[in-house]
Amino acid sequence: MASSFQFLLFSLLFTSISLSHAQPSFRPNALVLPVSKDASTLQYLTHFKQRTPLVSVSLVVDLGGQFLWVDCDQGYISSSYTPARCRSKQCSFANSTNCGNCFSTPNPGCNNNTCSLTPDNSVTHTATRGNLIQDVVSLQSTDGKNPGPVGTVPHFLLTCSSTVLLEGLASGVKGMAGLGRTPIGLPSQFAAAFRFHRKFAICLTSSTLANGVIFFGDGPYVMLPKVDVSQSLIYTPLFINPVSTASAYSPGDASAEYFVGVKSIKVNEKRVSLNASLLSFDSKGVGGTKISTVNPYTIMETTIYNAVTEAFIKEATSMNITRVAAVAPFGVCFSLKNIGGTRVGAAVPPIDLVLQSESVYWRIFGANSMVQVSDDALCLGFVDGGLSPRTSIVIGGYQLEDNLLQFDLARSRLGFSSSLLFRQTTCSNFNFTSNA
Ligand SMILES: *[C@@H]1O[C@H](CO)[C@@H](O)[C@H](O)[C@H]1NC(C)=O
Ligand SMILES: *[C@@H]1O[C@H](CO)[C@@H](O)[C@H](O)[C@H]1NC(C)=O
Ligand SMILES: *[C@@H]1O[C@H](CO)[C@@H](O)[C@H](O)[C@H]1NC(C)=O
Ligand SMILES: *[C@@H]1O[C@H](CO)[C@@H](O)[C@H](O)[C@H]1NC(C)=O
Ligand SMILES: *[C@@H]1O[C@H](CO)[C@@H](O)[C@H](O)[C@H]1NC(C)=O
Repeated sequence: MASSFQFLLFSLLFTSISLSHAQPSFRPNALVLPVSKDASTLQYLTHFKQRTPLVSVSLVVDLGGQFLWVDCDQGYISSSYTPARCRSKQCSFANSTNCGNCFSTPNPGCNNNTCSLTPDNSVTHTATRGNLIQDVVSLQSTDGKNPGPVGTVPHFLLTCSSTVLLEGLASGVKGMAGLGRTPIGLPSQFAAAFRFHRKFAICLTSSTLANGVIFFGDGPYVMLPKVDVSQSLIYTPLFINPVSTASAYSPGDASAEYFVGVKSIKVNEKRVSLNASLLSFDSKGVGGTKISTVNPYTIMETTIYNAVTEAFIKEATSMNITRVAAVAPFGVCFSLKNIGGTRVGAAVPPIDLVLQSESVYWRIFGANSMVQVSDDALCLGFVDGGLSPRTSIVIGGYQLEDNLLQFDLARSRLGFSSSLLFRQTTCSNFNFTSNA
């Protein structure tokens, strides 16, 4: 078992708890979290210890989520939580100017003179208002190879929700872990608390039986057998959508989500003809390409979806692959009969998301493009997003699995590994056995 470096809590009423004082005594260079895939919702789940006494809380991983939010109405028991008082440093740090009182039974989610934010269930697109609070959060550190001693953040900022906001989330889950680009997103708070690089990486598992991994901080990110994935990443700029994509927001708020600059799409190395203006933001922040862990499959605006699927069908047909009836939510399915296998999944035409130049592309192989829906059929794992969706392309979970993505907030760039299957490893190959 890992030893715990608990930080002495300043629980005295008169101690001013400034953010800069909230430094833990143990300074790891990186932290690690396990991430499972829920078989029924296809959500990616993590859990880590919180509160006093420490309890493990299960959460849905929301890559573009603004912050950590949890249900405070039911079962939030902690002697260490403190509400963020109106006009405090905490409120301004979290950009919360909304202040209020509460007239029901006092609990972590119900306090007077406390500022609030809008926790967002990005699965159901529902947002409510909830108090900003601080409490203890505790994660295992890592040297990139194994988990190590526990690092504790005594005054982690999170938002309370009511129980109803959990609707649509996997069973047993108590909230969402937002990894988005805000000062109080998990990556920024951990980087500030432990003074490590404002970088984090996600490596989602394709298996509902084995854990993938999230690293906070810089590499190495080592998967068995000794593959340091951080050494061979391809980089592309991240873009900020100036208009929030949250379910509820104030005018002027930017999006906390991670957008990349897809310039064109190729199928079997042939360029697909697209309306390029859909690939950038318009003045209302509509358009562009983002990465999401709450959408199980990639979603494309209808004209893009049609162009890509038509090109794919044409290329697959020339390989003697035959179509069969579609199985929802997919629109294009094939018989397994003439489809061979490769190290990176079904032998189908590769799909390239071409980024800042022709030579920088995210290649999607069979393991990330084809979803097996029955004993004899595979479907192209893309979904039609309708005409004029908020974001033209949402790269979803299935396309991210067994690829490592590193988000570098300071340099505003994404590093991606392409399929780890090429390197004979997967995202479920992090060695979660603790050192020592
Ligand atoms: C907030 O203050 C009001 C008025 O003083 C009081 O009625 C209410 O119970 C307080 N709420 C909490 C949660 O303490
Ligand atoms: C804080 O909110 C204001 C207005 O809603 C917005 O313009 C600003 O970008 C926000 N700042 C951060 C750091 O989110
Ligand atoms: C391309 O997309 C933009 C944005 O939706 C739209 O205004 C325009 O009419 C489209 N152009 C064509 C040729 O379809
Ligand atoms: C497809 O099938 C035809 C007829 O059976 C055959 O001649 C051709 O070589 C096949 N092509 C491929 C790419 O397998
Ligand atoms: C996993 O890590 C533990 C602790 O360092 C080590 O004893 C074990 O050999 C590792 N497993 C593999 C398969 O390398």
